[in-house]
Amino acid sequence: MKFFVDTADIAAIAELNALGIVDGVTTNPSLIKKSGRDILEVTREIAELVDGPVSAEVVATEAEAMIAEGRKLANIADNIAIKLPLTWDGLKACKTLSAEGHMINVTLCFSANQALLAAKAGASFISPFIGRLDDINLDGMQLIADIRQIYDNYGFETEILAASIRTVNHVTEAARIGADVMTAPPEVIQKLAQHPLTDKGLEQFLKDAEAAGIKIV
Ligand code: E4P
Repeated sequence: MKFFVDTADIAAIAELNALGIVDGVTTNPSLIKKSGRDILEVTREIAELVDGPVSAEVVATEAEAMIAEGRKLANIADNIAIKLPLTWDGLKACKTLSAEGHMINVTLCFSANQALLAAKAGASFISPFIGRLDDINLDGMQLIADIRQIYDNYGFETEILAASIRTVNHVTEAARIGADVMTAPPEVIQKLAQHPLTDKGLEQFLKDAEAAGIKIV
């Protein structure tokens, strides 16, 4: 499973990237707002830092304007994935921009039928939002499972990018179901390393090491 980081915070991306666990980055207008940076400037910096796809989202809502914005974003670097919302106009823009050879991440996906349309329109990634479905008492993980089955049934190559991940259990479940990619905030990715038994075991080992006078260097 590929790991994307869902943030526009350069320092946080750099820290995770140094571990070699970052396969890409996703941003959205809310994350750009949080960063307080200009979208073109911060996206360029992220794309220089990370080798994999960096998703940058359009803000237009009409296909022609989305296409113009998408081309401008794609011009920033070769590893930009243009992020388009799953609307009818977004699908039109997806068809045009993917035919031009751009990577497209179709975002704000909340149903299997939307995912089917995005794949047919040439999306490189489909982003089902797990957490936002869970927020309204729907089963985000069932959506990932449905899309996996449908894409496998027909051999679609669009990658399933599990998004709106809020917990470490979301990561485990999405991986178990076979999502190709997950994108999560840096805090959630860091939590993947935590386990209370690891902390407890280490505490005991360190006590015993001190008692035994173990010194290595
Ligand atoms: C993904 O590309 C989105 O930017 C993100 O995962 C949305 O997450 P949220 O629902 O926690 O805002």
